[in-house]
Amino acid sequence: MCGIVGYTGSRQAVDILLDALKRLEYRGYDSAGIAVCGKGVQIFKDKGEISSLEKSLPRIHGTVGISHTRWATCGKPSKENAHPFADCTGRFALVHNGIIENHRQLRQKLESEGHRFTSETDTEVLVHLLEANFNGDVHSALRESLKEVKGTYAIAVASSDSNEIVAARMENPLVIGLGVGENLVASDVPALLNYTNKILHVMDGETAVISPDSVAIYDESGAEVKRNPSTVTWTIEDAEKGGFEHFMLKEILEGPSSIHNSLLGSLDGVEEGEFLQDVGFKSVKIVACGSSFHAAMIGKYVIENLSHIPTTLELASEYRYSHGTKESPLVILVTQSGETADTLAAAREARRRGCRTLAITNVVGSTITREVDEVFYTRAGPEIGVAATKTFLTQLVALSLLAMRMGFARRQLDHERLRILKAELRSMPRYVEAVIDGAQQIEGSVEMLAGARDAFFIGRNINFPTMLEGALKLKEISYIHAEGYAAGELKHGPLALLDSRTPVVAACIKDHTYDKMLSNVSEVAARDSPVIGIGYEDDMDLRSIVDRFIGIPKVDPIFSPIPITVVLQLLAYHTAKRKGCSIDKPRNLAKSVTVE
Ligand code: AGP
Repeated sequence: MCGIVGYTGSRQAVDILLDALKRLEYRGYDSAGIAVCGKGVQIFKDKGEISSLEKSLPRIHGTVGISHTRWATCGKPSKENAHPFADCTGRFALVHNGIIENHRQLRQKLESEGHRFTSETDTEVLVHLLEANFNGDVHSALRESLKEVKGTYAIAVASSDSNEIVAARMENPLVIGLGVGENLVASDVPALLNYTNKILHVMDGETAVISPDSVAIYDESGAEVKRNPSTVTWTIEDAEKGGFEHFMLKEILEGPSSIHNSLLGSLDGVEEGEFLQDVGFKSVKIVACGSSFHAAMIGKYVIENLSHIPTTLELASEYRYSHGTKESPLVILVTQSGETADTLAAAREARRRGCRTLAITNVVGSTITREVDEVFYTRAGPEIGVAATKTFLTQLVALSLLAMRMGFARRQLDHERLRILKAELRSMPRYVEAVIDGAQQIEGSVEMLAGARDAFFIGRNINFPTMLEGALKLKEISYIHAEGYAAGELKHGPLALLDSRTPVVAACIKDHTYDKMLSNVSEVAARDSPVIGIGYEDDMDLRSIVDRFIGIPKVDPIFSPIPITVVLQLLAYHTAKRKGCSIDKPRNLAKSVTVE
């Protein structure tokens, strides 16, 4: 996720571009840049936040320009990798949000034609393609260039000899703001609200040509599209959260696009070995904290199921003080922030023990990426709410892809099973969308949980850790005491705590543990505990024995933790909201825990 802004009008562009860009800082903040067209195209960029770029800028004159705030996905955060990028002739400046999947092939081709690259990014191929396809008209050149591109994008281009900004969109947000004698284009509405509340949405496959007095939008065939502007009534603060009351809800709803981004380019890597090329390790150990540890627990089931490689788990805070064994497994460190002190210490300890290390993280250039042998990025985009939501889902996707890679390379997974698993992952954004669309199902359950002092979350097998995560979500944002339990363990103690005031949330998926789960649900109901059952949407048996039923689409059980987690995140969110809790910043907690 990155933020882009373009301005064309009669005012000094630099002031507007910087002000508008600051409204998009929630979309990324590891580097920023600006290009202003006056005497040629002048580009200024730097690592760090927009405010530090602002301090270093000279006075730049020009009434047309583009700007960018970056959340690195390809190439570390650095001045060289910051946007905008220029072509070799210095005619164009380009900013981009998204992922160009075939950038390696395009780069090779362009370099062989003599184009010189200055960054490690996927984006830079776009500006060189533009140069190669330019025949006097920037819009046509961009349309031609996009025919060669595989991936997702929101793009804005400024050029030295024109007051037009040319833009394009594919699966990344892009809105145009209509002013008087000036127009803007941006990744999101908050960037525009200081200047106009008249907004035109650009749709997938469309391109736009924006000048001070006119805006034209074109569809994929090149035909002009007529669209009426809408009037936005949000305040800037509301708009930063996409009109939602809390970042947490916005981020839960971003789950489908985060999963989609996480899969981009990586699904093919399973066979081709773009990641985890060498699979010659005898065992795997996964080390993490908090929600990331729950993802790790789910990962163990997936790895052992798909690759038969023995996998162990350790909490990062325990690993560093444990006794090492003679074996030296592949150690996978899972951390969305890449900055958790315990996980960093564990990475160092793993290397000291001679283990090969791989980090799964969401933050390009974070400390963990410098401490390990290999990195797998989850590409969920920035997460502001303290409770991990979309980053957790993408950790599950990452662990599944690694497990598929291990299974395929070790010949435990045949082509047919791999094909089915891949298709299922490709459908995952749709499954999650369906859970979000059916969110009204959870209302009765929210009421049940909001009135409780204690709650239990139970599951078996791969959904035991899913329910640990559900319990953690509820306790951290609603302050209700919640315990996750393996359903088979209830009778060994906690059953004594159940009564009519203690709701139990149970995940019952039709896998080999289903009948046992139904028995556990009956045991719980016999102690008068109200039961919320989560199962496949057509499961009449489960529906008939629980007090509240929440249906999810029929996914392969191995991926069922993903949609079930989304249900649990929504349950925690709405319960906390009902109780009036501080959802995005729960008491005593921080987003990244940099102390031991
Ligand atoms: C999850 O909602 C929490 N915010 C917390 O458990 C978190 O997952 C943990 O602190 C680990 O953080 P990391 O993934 O950044 O390492």
